[in-house]
Amino acid sequence: MPTALVRNGRVVTASESYEADLYVDGGRIALVGQGLSLPADTVLDASGCLVLPGGVDVHTHLDMPAGETRSADDFETGTRAAAFGGTTTIVDFATPEPGQSLLAAFETWMRKAEGKAAIDYGFHMALRGLGETTAAEMARLTRDEGVTSFKLYLAYPGVLQVDDATFFRALLGARECGALTLVHAENGGVIDVLVKRALARGETAPRYHALTRPPETEAEATARAIAMAALAGTPLHVVHLSCAAALAHVAAARERGLAVHAETCPHYLFLSTADYDRPGLDGARYVMSPPLRETADQDALWRGLAGGDLEVVATDHCPFTLADKARGRDDFSRIPNGAPGIETRMMLLWDGGVRSGRFDAQRFVELTATGPARLFGLWPRKGAIAVGSDADLVVWDPERETRLAAETLHMRVDYSPYEGRIVRGGPVAVLSRGEVVVDHGEWKGRPGRGQFLKRSHGATRPA
Ligand code: URP
Ligand code: ZN
Repeated sequence: MPTALVRNGRVVTASESYEADLYVDGGRIALVGQGLSLPADTVLDASGCLVLPGGVDVHTHLDMPAGETRSADDFETGTRAAAFGGTTTIVDFATPEPGQSLLAAFETWMRKAEGKAAIDYGFHMALRGLGETTAAEMARLTRDEGVTSFKLYLAYPGVLQVDDATFFRALLGARECGALTLVHAENGGVIDVLVKRALARGETAPRYHALTRPPETEAEATARAIAMAALAGTPLHVVHLSCAAALAHVAAARERGLAVHAETCPHYLFLSTADYDRPGLDGARYVMSPPLRETADQDALWRGLAGGDLEVVATDHCPFTLADKARGRDDFSRIPNGAPGIETRMMLLWDGGVRSGRFDAQRFVELTATGPARLFGLWPRKGAIAVGSDADLVVWDPERETRLAAETLHMRVDYSPYEGRIVRGGPVAVLSRGEVVVDHGEWKGRPGRGQFLKRSHGATRPA
């Protein structure tokens, strides 16, 4: 098994920062120390750079069917782009077709990733409803397959939305098998009424996507999900939280000692409702759910990240091409929901978080790697720099300047929501289990080298 030596860098973990060399053997960190001079197959000089744990992105949608189309990145292009941005682990959402069993959906997603993924990956399982075998399948997935988290949608009526009784029963089921419940918290019923009224008035432009999904619909669903999780006595993770009102419910629950966790995404930190007013169909690029919010919401989210109520920054990477976005030319409700971001997460968060002085490099590591790894049962194999951990490492140049542009990024999509934005701080080398996969902008990885990760119970323990 090849060996590697990363020399002269400053190691930053979620709790410490120190000068050290790292020796890698068998894909794992074998030694951490100063002045290591062992022979190695690969030697990287990290002078002037930080050495961080590889990023862990726990919210991606690769090769995901979406109505008449599918997300534009598959496991090959999506994981390669992730690595270019410093992410070395993803947790993607397996989503059953209507009527499909959870185990069949799991097999489908395993096949999608096999032979393609270039970095390591795990799966959450989405639940469309509860059938006779669902509880047993949840137990089996949790116990035998390392799929230890289940996501339910309180939005998208007629497609993915579940009612309160189903959500509550799923929480009880998750508690039974020690799994973590994830919630897409928007009130789909109310939104549906608002969407129909808007369309009836001829309000068809992308900006009405945001206007028909106001913060109240997210805040209400967040509060309801928290109340039901508390009643069921089981932890909850709120995905892609976008606004101050929803965050206030999370913060209040945490203050009460409830096991409520939440993530936000870079687009809610850097983009706003103003982006929907871009000319022509350009606003469609920013159609995702929940929608972009006001700048006051951005400020609240940044405070939540610094203060601890938001524990994870994930991407909700769900790219659609401009041709796909154009399906909603005459009707915003037909624009496929989602945006690209798997590659830009760490660069944006470093620039907006660390460089702007909102939090330090250790908090950055916590939010992008260690926190998500812990919450989702991957730590200390992932998200850590310690002897025995996987050698998923990022040599990070805090001064590296990148102009974000679809043409030079690696995601398989023909636009970037951040087109032209200049960010400072980025990866110069990325190692996945000790193998250099990105070296100064050059791809050294290969499809199929990524391994499936059976996750353990992270934020949860069997009841
Ligand atoms: O708009 C979004 N978020 N698209 C991806 C699917 C989901 O709801 O997470
Ligand atoms: Zn999502």
